Amino acid sequence: MTEPLPLEESVPNAARMYDYHLGGCHNFEVDRAAARRTEEVMPWVAAALRANRAFLGRAVRFCLAAGVRQFLDLGSGIPTVGNVHEIAHRIDPDARVAYVDREPVAVAHAASILREVRTASITHADFCDVDAVLAAPGVRDLLDLTEPVALLLVAVLHFLPDDDAAAALIARYRSALLGGGLLVISHATSDHDADSAEAAMGTYRSTDSPVLTRTHAEVAALFDGADLVDPGLVDATAWRPDTATGGHPGFWAGVGTLPPVRDTAVTRLDTPDPALGSPER
Ligand SMILES: C[S@@+](CC[C@H](N)C(=O)[O-])C[C@H]1O[C@@H](n2cnc3c(N)ncnc32)[C@H](O)[C@@H]1O
Repeated sequence: MTEPLPLEESVPNAARMYDYHLGGCHNFEVDRAAARRTEEVMPWVAAALRANRAFLGRAVRFCLAAGVRQFLDLGSGIPTVGNVHEIAHRIDPDARVAYVDREPVAVAHAASILREVRTASITHADFCDVDAVLAAPGVRDLLDLTEPVALLLVAVLHFLPDDDAAAALIARYRSALLGGGLLVISHATSDHDADSAEAAMGTYRSTDSPVLTRTHAEVAALFDGADLVDPGLVDATAWRPDTATGGHPGFWAGVGTLPPVRDTAVTRLDTPDPALGSPER
């Protein structure tokens, strides 16, 4: 990266607040103050974020065990302990990881730790601009979309307030994943503690990245057309827990299988369109 990215240090930002809650040091005083205000109204927020992060790690290991060796991590965040490429490369050094984030600190830090890593990239983009993400060299040149890809939308969809926009976004990415793969989602919820979630959302309204929560049914709807693997959509702490699993409820989490798009294309080619008449033999 040659140009320094523009940085807004006077307004709190969710990526840097998340970094603070996880014990990182890539945040400013304005982020720490907003994070502390969140902790006052939601004392378990850091434990819930750690549970989300631990879910991400288990989901990555699950993807590799299922034979999926490529990851498109949308809203990848500021690198911290247990980054996707580190977890993946411990299992398969050739696994490919394309990170995407819009926050300059996240992108700069990722670029610095990935300088020597051939099989992972960081793209500075808004993941809602699907064409730009898919055309970015860090994605286009790293991932083979005709092979299975794990699409990671971990703790990011609550930044999209519109249900239709969130569903349409997932559909756009899914239509590009010709080889299918796995859809990994976690999402903040108020289902367990509506009062503190409402108060915390108030804090986030003072940031450049307001959040909203969704119910279990609303998050389940985002998996439409993907088959959820066991145990389905559950709290992040309860998704295939291991001995290290702890934390606090607060995120619905699940993994769904994505069929290859080519199956649909083959079906379409094999089934003559009556409007086009019979193919010439
Ligand atoms: C809470 S962090 C989650 C990080 C990581 N996925 C995890 O679960 O540990 C959310 C990240 O999503 C990024 N983000 C939110 N909306 C985005 C968008 N529209 N485009 C790109 N990144 C986005 C933020 O900058 C932030 O780094």
